[in-house]
Amino acid sequence: LKIGVFDSGVGGLTVLRELLQHVPHADYIYFGDTARLPYGAKSAATVAKYATGAVQHLVDRGAEFIVVACNTATALAIQEITASVHIPVIGVVEPGAEQAMRATKSKNVAVIATEATVGSHAYLRALERRGLRAQEKACPLLVPLIEEGWTDHSVTEQVVHIYLDTLFREHPQVDTLLLGCTHYPLIRELLRRVVPTGVAIVDSAESTALAVAAALQSQAAKAHIRCGEIQLLATDSTEKFRRSGERFLGRSIEQVELVTLHE
Ligand code: DGL
Repeated sequence: LKIGVFDSGVGGLTVLRELLQHVPHADYIYFGDTARLPYGAKSAATVAKYATGAVQHLVDRGAEFIVVACNTATALAIQEITASVHIPVIGVVEPGAEQAMRATKSKNVAVIATEATVGSHAYLRALERRGLRAQEKACPLLVPLIEEGWTDHSVTEQVVHIYLDTLFREHPQVDTLLLGCTHYPLIRELLRRVVPTGVAIVDSAESTALAVAAALQSQAAKAHIRCGEIQLLATDSTEKFRRSGERFLGRSIEQVELVTLHE
């Protein structure tokens, strides 16, 4: 089985990293739309146009199952993406909300994400459908700080305090923090230090990989356990993708293919 994984850039490699662990038998083709990132500050129409084009490219290259690893693309365009192809599509929002539901005891969840994801209220709706209350907080400075490699930096810690202290002070009933952006798993330890003790941290990357594993269970049972082929595609500098991608994927990257999409 060839699984196509799509993200605006390198962030979705945190989802691929989890997929490799939970669905190790599959072949993967990963598309990072680095020429057009960030998606997190763009409109729904633009994100839908970019995302459907990229996913079509993955289908043309033989993907049989699509994982929309980008929270922003899922939040803004999962319907358009799903309607544009004839193969199964899984995004990160529903699995993330599902895992938050399992983690919370107070039924009060905080979600941090990009400006566009928060503006879409996709997580809010997914959590409310599950009978939970949600506080959403856009944290636009975190993606550039994490891409800069400042994952354990005092500046990043201070920025997280500024974003989250008021939220947790005003909503002490919140007992679960849902990471609604591909980049945030890289600052999980830092977040742990900043958020009140006892708050569970839920990562949509891991929950999505578990959802894919569940969806493919019958095939997974039949397949031999092995790590299949991994192809990495980017729409801008392959060298930059390789360098910063390694931190997100958690393993070395040998080869990245440059792809040009025609609109
Ligand atoms: N991948 C995006 C997300 O998960 C973050 C980076 C971007 O804004 O493009 O929302």
